Amino acid sequence: QVKSTECPTLITDINSIEGSICVLDELKKVFSVAVSLAYPDLIEPPVVLTQSGNNIKFGDYQCNSAMAIAQLLKTNNIKTNPRQVAENILKNTPTSPLIEKVELAGIGFINIFLNKRFVEHFLNCILKFGVKPPPVKRERIVIDFSAPNIAKEMHVGHLRSTIIGESIARLLEFLNHDVLRINHLGDWGTQFGMLIAHLQDKYPNYKTHSPPISDLQAFYKESKKRFDEDEEFKKRAYSCVVQLQSGNPDYISAWKLICEVSRCEFQKIYDRLNITIIDRGESFYQSRMDIIVKELKDKGLLEEDEGRLIMWSNTEREGIPFTIVKSDGGYTYDTSDMATIKQRVEEEKADRLIYVTDAGQYTHFVVLEGCATRAGILKDGKKIEHVVFGVVLGEDKKKFKTRSGETIKLIKLLDEGLKRSLDKLKEKGRDLVLTPEELEAAQTAIAYGCIKYADLCHNRVNDYIFSFDKMLEDKGNTAVYLLYALTRIQSIARNAQVSHETLMEEVNKSGIKLNHEAEWKLGKTLLRFPEVILKVSKDLFLHTLCEYLYEISCMFTEFYDKCYCVERDPAGNIVKVNYERLMLCEATARIMTKCFDILGIQTVSKM
Ligand code: ARG
Repeated sequence: QVKSTECPTLITDINSIEGSICVLDELKKVFSVAVSLAYPDLIEPPVVLTQSGNNIKFGDYQCNSAMAIAQLLKTNNIKTNPRQVAENILKNTPTSPLIEKVELAGIGFINIFLNKRFVEHFLNCILKFGVKPPPVKRERIVIDFSAPNIAKEMHVGHLRSTIIGESIARLLEFLNHDVLRINHLGDWGTQFGMLIAHLQDKYPNYKTHSPPISDLQAFYKESKKRFDEDEEFKKRAYSCVVQLQSGNPDYISAWKLICEVSRCEFQKIYDRLNITIIDRGESFYQSRMDIIVKELKDKGLLEEDEGRLIMWSNTEREGIPFTIVKSDGGYTYDTSDMATIKQRVEEEKADRLIYVTDAGQYTHFVVLEGCATRAGILKDGKKIEHVVFGVVLGEDKKKFKTRSGETIKLIKLLDEGLKRSLDKLKEKGRDLVLTPEELEAAQTAIAYGCIKYADLCHNRVNDYIFSFDKMLEDKGNTAVYLLYALTRIQSIARNAQVSHETLMEEVNKSGIKLNHEAEWKLGKTLLRFPEVILKVSKDLFLHTLCEYLYEISCMFTEFYDKCYCVERDPAGNIVKVNYERLMLCEATARIMTKCFDILGIQTVSKM
């Protein structure tokens, strides 16, 4: 028997919905009620709901539970067929203001047709209250992204992590989660020994006079050269590491100096791309690594291996082990990541632990999860979410490099984006139409927008080819096309000389009506926004959101081709304004703007 407490509460009145709602989830509830009424004896019967294909004959959503339930009943020796089951479910389906009608089809499909009044209500809510997130349980989420290494170049891999991580954080924040954005900078480790030793030689009075290191990479190369060639220097470098790790103030200040130089460089990139992140590098975990090593020792999880202490992620000793303590007593990347998990679970009370790095670190995170679970730090089924992404390739499909074979400096890359985007605007003669301020705003929005969008619109797991030519195309699923589409939509009301106030008055008077087929299709596409957001918040694949954004703009084009928003006489004078359609334009623009906002892409009103 279904206990009443298990019975989900269904929406019975459209007007009770003021914010946002995920239609798929609500329909799942409706049909789980139907199924448990139809088959009260089945324990956890499957409730399968999907969006229907493009053929409107099959409705908007489908419930495909009948086949699986018929199968289940057969194993319980109850003779039936899917069609009968579907009929039975149909008979028990409670009424819902979301649903216009349900129909039985084929061997046992249930086609669900959405109620127009409900979709109109959803869109009117957007116009009245703004684009609101669907309600979800608030979680504490730590997201580890960007994470370049001090004194080394921030490369395109870090750029990908930065762009993807920022966007995931924005999406989760939109859903009102409590998000902590962490920059796990590589700011600790043996390389600092040689850097400090070199600093002491080159700038003896570094403590009183801030050394003018403008090119930290060159500085790094110099010290590395000495380290490799000069035994004496090498020895000193090692003793510097010991001094640093034991907290000698002189060495700490030298280390801080070096970190600061790198940080300033990284910040330039973050400022340009509008990235928000808190620095909390490997060094933060020094004392916590002491603690965790002791804990692992006490639990008997470490074993000796040629002078090092290692840990296996499983008792079968399969795969590769973590190196927890090196033979010289130092810690590793592995040790610091064990500490990140403990810190985030125990101190930050994180419900979700997200790490954004390239696919090359796949094994590292598998082993990390195994070790942390074995050590009892990760428990109750809590997992690591490793957001992996592929390599950035050049147009020759080889690793992304400059013509002369050096790694590409990110600032240079961004500058080139700016230049190319301005060229593109000039090519279209936009410099003659826009004010200098508008032109500059469009230039930056396009440059950074296209770099971000190219990264986000592909399935992140795949490698992707970095091509300004492709990014800056103004057709297809590109940032340029979509940004342009948005400006066009926003200009419709402007050109009709309808002010925002007038439009809002009309919203309160009549509201959106979806009479024409193309309006109805666009309306239903917009309705899917909460569903898309929720899906991405779970699987963290942002290309779904990009594809959705593109779909909206295609649906809009179809609507705009078929439906007049403003009618003019041959002389061009406005003879009739269709306010309901202008409202639909406005709702479209608002949802598109929200999508761009989540993707971290700046929009402009003119371009
Ligand atoms: N600094 C590392 C790298 O450049 C990435 C760190 C990612 N975060 C982490 N907690 N392991 O590859």
